[in-house]
Amino acid sequence: MKILITGAAGFIGFHLSKKLLDVSYEVIGIDNLNDYYDPNLKQSRLEILGKYNNFNFHRVDLKKS
Ligand SMILES: NC(=O)c1ccc[n+]([C@@H]2O[C@H](COP(=O)([O-])OP(=O)(O)OC[C@H]3O[C@@H](n4cnc5c(N)ncnc54)[C@H](O)[C@@H]3O)[C@@H](O)[C@H]2O)c1
Repeated sequence: MKILITGAAGFIGFHLSKKLLDVSYEVIGIDNLNDYYDPNLKQSRLEILGKYNNFNFHRVDLKKS
């Protein structure tokens, strides 16, 4: 099953994505990587999620799509 997670590089989105990936769901993560919180922290989270074959990330601003 595929699950779409918005804000996947954020605090909740990252932890939820990781939980779902660990139990073998396919996760599509979306985030605009804004700078409200440290973008480097968001990149670090995406590096962790990117190690999973069942994770795909798209940089998308939901306000513009
Ligand atoms: N963290 C908490 O304890 C908590 C508690 C209650 C409610 N919430 C709510 O849950 C949501 C997520 O919280 P969080 O702590 O993970 O916040 P966060 O800021 O860490 O994560 C939100 C993510 O969404 C992304 N984002 C923001 N606008 C976007 C847009 N237009 N398009 C694509 N991506 C966008 C940001 O880049 C960020 O990575 C927020 O609405 C927050 O108010 C959080």
